[in-house]
Amino acid sequence: MPPVVIALDGPSGSGKSSTARKVATRLGLAYLDTGAMYRAMTWAVLERDVDVEDAEAVAEAAAEIVIESGTDPQAPTIIADGVDVAGPIREQAVTDAVSQVSRVPAVRERLVALQRQTIASSDGIVLEGRDIGTVVAPDAPLKLYLVADTAARAARRAAEEGQAEVAAHVEATAASLQRRDAIDSTRTTSPLAKADDAIELDTTHLTLDEVVDEVVRLAVKAVPDL
Ligand code: DC
Repeated sequence: MPPVVIALDGPSGSGKSSTARKVATRLGLAYLDTGAMYRAMTWAVLERDVDVEDAEAVAEAAAEIVIESGTDPQAPTIIADGVDVAGPIREQAVTDAVSQVSRVPAVRERLVALQRQTIASSDGIVLEGRDIGTVVAPDAPLKLYLVADTAARAARRAAEEGQAEVAAHVEATAASLQRRDAIDSTRTTSPLAKADDAIELDTTHLTLDEVVDEVVRLAVKAVPDL
């Protein structure tokens, strides 16, 4: 039997990361944050002073960059070229460049291959990203597509950064989320999209625990052996 895969896709700030980690912990599954892999690739591309607008140069650099992910939902890790980049990948320079790097087909091929290897070597896994249900694991028995209002998403991101009270920061975060969503949903190679068989969950008015309960309920329904 192939490992059970739960696919969690959706735009930035829709609650995927917190949900995916809690669901994986509750169900005893591994966890993979594919956005962290695209961010780690972007960090390493920037370290090499590659112009992220130059798709050919990005593709060349990507062929040499080594990304490793740890899949414990309670302590996920992300390493690029031997460096622990868990902190640096959340910095603004990476956030601003990640959508450009993610649209390069060679980058996606490399990371999708790694993601499939990670699935194959697991005993069951929750993956979060933009193209899990459509491209990485189209046969996943449960696919969720999380959405939320832009204002709610920006407020959550700002709260994670301890800046919930700073109106200008919340506004800038909303603009940055919308800019990334626009690039992520319109790129040619595997854009952000809801799979036809994914269940859409609007998290705008739900607490994290409510979302986790609902996803666990749907998972147990889809895969009774869990
Ligand atoms: O989930 P996140 O915000 O950390 O993702 C960062 C970027 O990575 C996002 O803007 C688009 C890209 N990404 C992608 O193209 N495909 C994925 N499966 C996951 C993320």
